[in-house]
Amino acid sequence: MHIIDIVQNSISAGAHLIAVNILDDKEKDIIVIEVKDDGSGMDADLIKRVQDPFYTTKSHKKVGLGIPLFKQTAEHCDGSFEITSEPGKGTSIRATFKRSHVDLPPMGNLKDTILTLVVGEPSVDFVFNISFDGNHLFLDTREIKEELQDVPINHPEVIKFLREYLEENLKTMEVAS
Ligand SMILES: Nc1ncnc2c1ncn2[C@@H]1O[C@H](COP(=O)(O)OP(=O)(O)OP(=O)(O)O)[C@@H](O)[C@H]1O
Ligand SMILES: [Mg+2]
Repeated sequence: MHIIDIVQNSISAGAHLIAVNILDDKEKDIIVIEVKDDGSGMDADLIKRVQDPFYTTKSHKKVGLGIPLFKQTAEHCDGSFEITSEPGKGTSIRATFKRSHVDLPPMGNLKDTILTLVVGEPSVDFVFNISFDGNHLFLDTREIKEELQDVPINHPEVIKFLREYLEENLKTMEVAS
């Protein structure tokens, strides 16, 4: 849920390329989630303000909660939270969590998360780098789109292929829950 939220922010910021890195390391007892985009970016003042739960630039809403909630969850789970951003260049958000923390939220269904993003935002490119205890999943939609040529990435046959590919590659990974 947090991942979709943070990626949605990148899309709202006009990103064309979004990298999602997830590292789940049982031995080091840590989970790292990183989202990097090439969207509009934020200046130092905005970076500070968006971490405040009562700040949003959306006019129809009183509060923005995506970032404050993600930060709060990370820090509550003995982790850390960091935003690096440059106006006009892009934004990088990195959150860490103590894997064994009792309040660690479940990772949820990563396959569905990835499919929702890739298929739901066909005009945005994604690079997923997911690593669970030595098992890796790498997916770059730019490569897939090049292979597909004129076939859209949200074509039913492509979705079926992607779903099977993700199932195959994620099943060996012990998803933290
Ligand atoms: N990747 C990003 N690039 C540029 N600006 C961003 C990015 N992520 C967040 N922001 C800015 O930070 C603000 C706060 O984000 P946050 O997700 O906390 O709330 P929101 O998106 O406004 O509302 P909500 O997520 O609750 O629907 C956004 O309105 C946006 O101005
Ligand atoms: Mg948001």
